[in-house]
Amino acid sequence: MTAATSRPPRIIGHRGAAGHAPENTLAGVRAAHGFGATWVEVDVKLTWDGVPILMHDATLQRTTGCKGAVARMAAAELAGCDAGAWFSTEFEGEPIPTLADLVELLADLSMGLNLEIKPCPGREEETGRAVAEVFPALWPAALPAPVVSSFSVDALAAYAAVAPAMERALIVNNLPTDWAAIAGRLGLKAMHCDAKRLKRHQVADIQAAGLAVRCYTVNDGNMAERLFGWGVESVISDFPDRMP
Ligand code: G3P
Ligand code: MG
Repeated sequence: MTAATSRPPRIIGHRGAAGHAPENTLAGVRAAHGFGATWVEVDVKLTWDGVPILMHDATLQRTTGCKGAVARMAAAELAGCDAGAWFSTEFEGEPIPTLADLVELLADLSMGLNLEIKPCPGREEETGRAVAEVFPALWPAALPAPVVSSFSVDALAAYAAVAPAMERALIVNNLPTDWAAIAGRLGLKAMHCDAKRLKRHQVADIQAAGLAVRCYTVNDGNMAERLFGWGVESVISDFPDRMP
């Protein structure tokens, strides 16, 4: 089987399909698939014992039935946490997935992935390195080449040192003035920008430097149309079904 090389699509489900199903769960990925998304974005961080799991926050409180910091919990201790009940009773009992669980499901569904490295505070390099040590080997060659992104320059640098071949993107709230220097240093192929703060001329500048622009979090169809008109390649949406 030859490796798939297709580019990320126009629409990427945010944290799965966070408007329809609990974020960063396998149910959320299935929901995104059901709504027609072909790619999802999820957040990955490390447990205390170094297992990459899907979780946005540094603490478990908001999205599970458990208390405490992810960085202080061993993976085995998360088995009793319910990552679905907070969203609705329909999703009660949904487990916190590992990165390996996610990739297995994506292979079943033939879906692509934007993997956001979301390190717990102080674990930026460790997380980038640990994810790079397992993710490329997990990723099936038959699926589209994934995009690895992060707000953390240190995490991306650590990732690149171990797995230089995989496409990387920096996530930004406001585009920093030295974005081009950072992109050059990290070998980035894209910038992932906050849709509400991004300006049209910034899209043009980034594209002129040979990088793609993708935007988060876009839940309004008119905003998506405007961004596509500016040349934005993809929007990352909680409601992939509402995107044009
Ligand atoms: O990857 C884009 C977006 O997910 C970044 O923000 O906080 O939703 O992870 P956040
Ligand atoms: Mg994210």
